[in-house]
Amino acid sequence: MRRVDLLICHANQLITCAAPQGAKRGRAMAEVGMIPDGAVAVDDGLVVAVGASEEVCAAYTARRRVDAYGHAVCPGLVDAHTHVVYAGDRIEEFEQRLRGASYLEILESGGGILNTVRATRAAPMEELIAAARARLDLMLALGTTTAEVKTGYALDVAGELKMLAALAALAEDGGDNAHPVELVPTFLGAHAVSPEYRGRPDAYLDSVIEQMLPAATAWYRDSPFARRKVPLFCDVFCERGAFDIWQSERVLRAAQALGMPVKIHADEFSALGGATLAVELGAVSADHLDVTPPEEISRLAASSTVGVLLPAVNFHLGSAHFAPARAMLDAGMAIALATDLNPGSAPCPSLPLVMAIACRYQKLLPAEALNACTINAAHALGLGGRIGSIEVGKQADLLILKQPDYRHLAYQLGINPVASVIKRGRPVI
Ligand code: NIG
Ligand code: FE
Repeated sequence: MRRVDLLICHANQLITCAAPQGAKRGRAMAEVGMIPDGAVAVDDGLVVAVGASEEVCAAYTARRRVDAYGHAVCPGLVDAHTHVVYAGDRIEEFEQRLRGASYLEILESGGGILNTVRATRAAPMEELIAAARARLDLMLALGTTTAEVKTGYALDVAGELKMLAALAALAEDGGDNAHPVELVPTFLGAHAVSPEYRGRPDAYLDSVIEQMLPAATAWYRDSPFARRKVPLFCDVFCERGAFDIWQSERVLRAAQALGMPVKIHADEFSALGGATLAVELGAVSADHLDVTPPEEISRLAASSTVGVLLPAVNFHLGSAHFAPARAMLDAGMAIALATDLNPGSAPCPSLPLVMAIACRYQKLLPAEALNACTINAAHALGLGGRIGSIEVGKQADLLILKQPDYRHLAYQLGINPVASVIKRGRPVI
C-alpha cells in the first residue's frame, strides 16, 4: 500500500469539477463530476488519486486521514477578478448612491476610484499589506484558495510598484509567511485617469505605456510570481469616464508587445466594443459584460476568451440588471464568476454569496455556479492546467463543506458553508 501525506475518505459527495478538455461550456456546465462516497489521496501537495472510497482508501495509507462522512468535498474556489489591495473605504459614497447619485457620476466628479487612489497613495506599505491580509483571511475562510488581484489604486509609477510589492510580500515565494491564498497579479495602471492628468487621458496613457508598463515588467522578472510561473496580466477599465475603446486597445497592445497576457473590464455600464477587442487580442478574459450586445456574445462564444461575470457589483449598486448568463451559456460562451472585491462597486469577499446571487438573478444552477467559480475561473487566469478541479496531477486545493450536498454553497444565504480548507495538501482552516 502506498503511503501518502493526506487521505480524505467517505465524502458524501466528492465534487471534482473535472474538465480535461479545457473551460466548460454549454451542458458540461451542469455537470460537477460527482463521486458519491468519494475519496481523494494527496501527496507532496498534488492529487495522486481520486475515486470511490472503496478503491482509493484501500490502496493508500496516509500520515493524516480525514473521514468526511456527511460532508461534501469540492475544489478550492478561484476568485478570478479582485482589487484586494487598497486603503480606506467608500462608505460616504455608499450613502451618496443610496440618495440617488450613480457610480459613474461619482467617478466623473473626481470621487469613486480616485478617492481610493488618494487613500492608497497615502498609506504606508505595511498598512496596505495588513489591510489586504485581513481581506484575504476572510476570503480563505469562505473557500477561496486562489485570487487574482489588480493594481490600479495608485496611478503613478511609485504607487503602482508599491501595490505590486505588497502582493509580492503576501505571496513571499510560497514561504512560511506567505498568505495561504495563492495570488495572481494584474497591472491595472489604466484603471482611471490619474488626478495629475485630469482631462488628458492620452497623456496619462503615454505615462502608463512609457513608464509604468516597463517598470511593472522589470519588477515582475525578479518577483516570486515569475519564479512560480504565475503570469503578470495587464488589464484596462474600458468605460465612459475611464478609457475608450481606442485607448484600451493602445494600452493592451503595448502590454502584449512586452509579452504580457491581457484582460479587460468591458461593458460594465456602456457597450463600447470591449468584448470584441478582447477576442481580437486573444485576451484570457473579458470581465463584467453586463451590457454586451448579442453579436459580441457570439464572438466571445467562438473564441477562447472566458467571460468573467461579477454579479456582486450589480447587487451592491442596487441594480436589477445582471449580465445575461443564460443567453451566454446558450450561445456557447465559457463563463466564470468572481467577486470583484473592491471598496466601490463590490465590498464582497464571498464567492458563495456571488454564487447565491448568480443562481437567483442570472438563473444559473448551483452546478453551473460552482464550475464558474472553480475550473472556469482557473481558465480565466490561464491556470486551468494546475488548479480549479480535483484531478490526478493537479494541485490539492480542496474544501470540506459543512453540509452533505454541494448545492448548499449557493442555497443558504449569509452563512459560511466551508468547514475546512486545504491548500497544496496542507490544512489551512
Ligand atoms: O471592477 N470597474 C472598475 N473597477 C472596479 C471598481 C473599482 C472601484 O470602484 O474602486 C470594478 O467594478
Ligand atoms: Fe474590477
